[in-house]
Amino acid sequence: MATLTESLLGSDLLTLAALDARGIGALYETAAATKAEPERFRESLRGRSIILLFEKPSLRTRVTFEVGPARMGAHAFYFDHSKERIGAREAVKDYGRNLERWVDCVVARVFSHGVLEDLAASAAIPVVNALSDRFHPCQALADYFTLAERLGGEDGPSAGLDRLAGFRLAYIGDGNNVCASLMHGAAILGVEMTVIVPEGYEPDPGVLEECRGLARRGGVRRGAIRVTHDPAEVRGAQAVYTDTWVSMGDEAEKVARMAAFAAYRVDQRLMSLAGRAAVFMHCLPAHRGAEVTDGVIDSKRSVVYDQAENRMHVQNALLLHVLGSA
Ligand code: CP
Ligand code: NVA
Repeated sequence: MATLTESLLGSDLLTLAALDARGIGALYETAAATKAEPERFRESLRGRSIILLFEKPSLRTRVTFEVGPARMGAHAFYFDHSKERIGAREAVKDYGRNLERWVDCVVARVFSHGVLEDLAASAAIPVVNALSDRFHPCQALADYFTLAERLGGEDGPSAGLDRLAGFRLAYIGDGNNVCASLMHGAAILGVEMTVIVPEGYEPDPGVLEECRGLARRGGVRRGAIRVTHDPAEVRGAQAVYTDTWVSMGDEAEKVARMAAFAAYRVDQRLMSLAGRAAVFMHCLPAHRGAEVTDGVIDSKRSVVYDQAENRMHVQNALLLHVLGSA
């Protein structure tokens, strides 16, 4: 943990590509500790202030970034940007240069990923991506932690993390921000990820290329990312993951999207094609009857509320590491 604290201290987390397997392992070790023994961390962030800048709605991200820091003694406060985008009143650069004088960390949810990059470039404090149009790294961190917990069982998530190499994850739906961060994680951890999307909704080829680089750089021997249009390719998956067909910011395309994705719904039939023990995953919010049926999301295979809970534990760990209190 000590070495990672040094390497993540003061770091931004704009995409998961900023981490390597060792870094994720250290974060998960801390996350497991904050989850198992929260009282040990009650004073860890005493006196720290964290601003939450949100241009888009949120339940999970907002609540976990408010409750989590409060449990570690920090003051996290919400700054509503739903009516005025960051950069509208004053330059993003000036925004960053002001914030660094008052707070210890910025957590931001934005329409344009570029705004996060500009904030990070102008402020000397850590900037954490709480979802952008391109990536959702905190979500993917929680998702792989959830799988690592399950695979690790009594041995714990750290052991489970090693067992993720070669794990078969099928992502079905839109090649969006959540998909992109899951791809980064897959490349770093050696997960075999099948991305199943309708034509025209493929993930960004630049992200695929970046994933190849991440796998090479990490010397990852197992796992590969495949993109297909065929829902039947869910066959053999150990986890089936989906997300909304209409992300925040895509509302104008709703009618076309509902038609394009109709054959990509996760229902009992699709789950029966996956492995018998396959779990169902979703970042939430879910649109019941659209991308997933009630029967699947409410079934024993569904781990969606574990994912939601783990958002808080991995984010707490992240804050402890970037603020140097792990
Ligand atoms: N999964 C997720 O980020 O949920 P919210 O949009 O509610 O924060
Ligand atoms: N892809 C979704 C995720 C919501 C948590 C969106 O961007 O709206």
